[in-house]
Amino acid sequence: MTVQAERVPRIISMTNQVGGSGKSTSGVNLGAQLAEFGWKVLVVDGDDQCDASYQLGYAFPDQLEDQKTIYDCLTDKSVKLSEAIVPALAGPLGGPDTKVIDNLYLVLGSHEMENAEQHLTTAMARELWLKNLLAPIKGDYDVIIIDCPGNLGLVVIGAILASDEIVACIKPGLKELRGLTRIEQKIELVKETWGEYGAHAELVGVLLVDVPTTRSQGAVWDDGKKMVEEAYGDLVLPGIRRSTKIPESYAHQKPLLYFDRAGEATADYLSVAKGLGFKRISK
Ligand SMILES: Nc1ncnc2c1ncn2[C@@H]1O[C@H](COP(=O)(O)OP(=O)(O)OP(=O)(O)O)[C@@H](O)[C@H]1O
Ligand SMILES: [Mg+2]
Repeated sequence: MTVQAERVPRIISMTNQVGGSGKSTSGVNLGAQLAEFGWKVLVVDGDDQCDASYQLGYAFPDQLEDQKTIYDCLTDKSVKLSEAIVPALAGPLGGPDTKVIDNLYLVLGSHEMENAEQHLTTAMARELWLKNLLAPIKGDYDVIIIDCPGNLGLVVIGAILASDEIVACIKPGLKELRGLTRIEQKIELVKETWGEYGAHAELVGVLLVDVPTTRSQGAVWDDGKKMVEEAYGDLVLPGIRRSTKIPESYAHQKPLLYFDRAGEATADYLSVAKGLGFKRISK
């Protein structure tokens, strides 16, 4: 009898303490691209805005009957993360043309995650919350992508601690570049403090989003891009061009691949997937 080896997933956190920097858009669209490559992917919605859940079909994650969310798992030890996992959808839940996306799964977010910091403050081993929740299920996936909220609080520290890799998403400029230094410091601090519990995440990519596509839009952006490239060299991933298809695909609750398959931004996320070393699984 042969014993099936357990998968060792790549666990990737999409971070930046600056809000609106493309974390959720990138987590969802990278996830969809990797699922399309044939990898089994889990997107973890760790943000109380629930944007990843929304874009993967679930507009009202807290209102689904008999369905747990990440917040239930965080606050009730008897709830397993597997109970909060749902198939990712292209289109709104219950919509007439909505389809299940092959290979792509979602840990449902919750608007109640706005209370997560408060809850975690008094919890035992609070920084380990997500690592512990992921432990029993991580062998079921090839890739786990964590969509973090836009801060560096306990939810994000838990995500960094649970991760192998960190991708920082930024709309480049001096403010954003300075913010990257803080993310790097936080990653180092987590490793120093929690190394004996397995913290080992590395910053593996800086993802520039919302790249202007015309010269007139681009002067300030070009300066910002140059600064990021000088500071981060090879870590800078292929950028995501500015595209109206991105907010439109969000409004339609579909990843770009299912909304604008041949579009520029869709192609950019394919380049990011390749830039992170992912290939299509040959059948
Ligand atoms: N390449 C792009 N072109 C056009 N709009 C974009 C692009 N990338 C992101 N956006 C838009 O920018 C906004 C912020 O993106 P997103 O929600 O992914 O950021 P976020 O970092 O997850 O934000 P938050 O910190 O609030 O969770 C969204 O309205 C999104 O549609
Ligand atoms: Mg977000």
